Amino acid sequence: MTPDQIALVERSFRLVAPIAEPAAQIFYARLFQRDPALKPMFAQTDIHAQGRKLMQAIGFVVANLRRPEALLPVVADLGRRHAGYGVQPAHYGTVGAALLDTLAEGLGPEFTPATREAWAAAYQTLADIMQQAAVPAPAAAA
Ligand code: HEM
Repeated sequence: MTPDQIALVERSFRLVAPIAEPAAQIFYARLFQRDPALKPMFAQTDIHAQGRKLMQAIGFVVANLRRPEALLPVVADLGRRHAGYGVQPAHYGTVGAALLDTLAEGLGPEFTPATREAWAAAYQTLADIMQQAAVPAPAAAA
């Protein structure tokens, strides 16, 4: 991510934070529209509580984009937990697309092409770290 992209994500997230609750609900609606097969993964989940956790996690990431040393271990742990939830690499693309749908809906005209690019870059970075952490490190050669 470029410094300009970090600033765009920070600025646009400040607009999303006050509408976090409806934004989270839009997110799950868009996610299940894009891939109804994901619904069973959340069958036992309180989707309101989950929405709050998701927005808190995104808030933490946005607040620490300039401090990768604080971000990396937390995101890596999140990725390892997600492997335990049955999340597959292909799901990350669907979640990323649903996140961009949600931001487009929530931000309206503020969601400029440059802001979209910036969020796509932020999400890709996160998703890469989460997926890498979920793959067990190869055993050291004897
Ligand atoms: C940047 C990407 C993502 C973020 C920030 C994120 C965030 C979170 C957070 C904060 C939780 C709460 C539990 C915990 O902290 O371990 C959670 C749970 C979960 N996430 Fe994600 N997630 C992401 C990607 C995904 C993807 C790609 C999927 C696949 C569909 C997914 C499916 C789930 C499921 C099934 C749970 C467990 C729900 C439950 O406890 O009932 N997440 N996620």
